[in-house]
Amino acid sequence: MHVEGSTVLVTGANRGIGRALVSAFLARGARRVHAAARNPAALEPVVAEAPDRVVPLALDLTVPATVEAAAEAASDVTLLVNNAGTHAMGHLLDMDLGAVEGVMRTNFLGTLRVLRAFVPVLERNGGGAVANVISIGAFAGTPSLGGYPASKAALHLMTQAVRADLGPRGIAVHAVFPGPVDTDMFAYAARCEPSFGEFPPASAAEVAAATIDGLEAGEEDIFPDAFAAQAGREWRADPKALEKRLTDI
Ligand SMILES: NC(=O)c1ccc[n+]([C@@H]2O[C@H](COP(=O)([O-])OP(=O)(O)OC[C@H]3O[C@@H](n4cnc5c(N)ncnc54)[C@H](OP(=O)(O)O)[C@@H]3O)[C@@H](O)[C@H]2O)c1
Repeated sequence: MHVEGSTVLVTGANRGIGRALVSAFLARGARRVHAAARNPAALEPVVAEAPDRVVPLALDLTVPATVEAAAEAASDVTLLVNNAGTHAMGHLLDMDLGAVEGVMRTNFLGTLRVLRAFVPVLERNGGGAVANVISIGAFAGTPSLGGYPASKAALHLMTQAVRADLGPRGIAVHAVFPGPVDTDMFAYAARCEPSFGEFPPASAAEVAAATIDGLEAGEEDIFPDAFAAQAGREWRADPKALEKRLTDI
């Protein structure tokens, strides 16, 4: 996958990793970046980075009409980056079930909805690539993280399934597994569960740059920071040991 000259769509582009990805794609020579957010007004500073190359787009993963409209508006996309995601902390046995449902609806079903809408777009444009931003949280059910690890594990297995379906159709599917990253989401988790504060987070810019390196290198599974790279090695060598380490947090 060559980023230079490509047309990218990044969901959740108004803050955190998504915003850093937009900057990184611009720096690597993307022709156009569709920056998608629930509230397009929040994209003003993102568009200001390169008004001739950044196109703001309204998209809520959980609202089908906005996803369909986005796929019509961004008909030139060759690289879809499913970055948007949400989180609700708590323990699965006693937290609000509605919060668990919301996380699954966004991270798993919402991402799948966006993917289904954009596959025809990618095909019409001659093929391309998809990157799903998952999390090393997909590798173990850390108890205080509520439905988040399950939603990311579901997204991981969905990524594997669609990779097998889309490869023969000329669309490469990449999984991105960040470790702790310095964004609002990580700050929220560390506020709720102080032990997360012990993990020094990577910067969103570092994670964005390493994600693009992985895409350009054709890596199926991208571990874009030092914590993630270590977890990736453990996942390959001894998944049970990784489960133990991540569930003990
Ligand atoms: N930070 C970490 O430590 C970490 C680690 C591993 C993986 N990740 C993953 O990386 C991705 C980005 O996370 P982040 O850390 O940058 O989080 P963040 O700062 O909380 O940003 C989340 C982004 O997702 C958007 N979003 C949430 N629900 C949405 C929906 N229904 N429709 C459209 N957009 C929605 C948010 O939009 P609003 O501004 O409208 O809320 C925001 O733009 C997520 O998938 C997350 O799970 C993060």
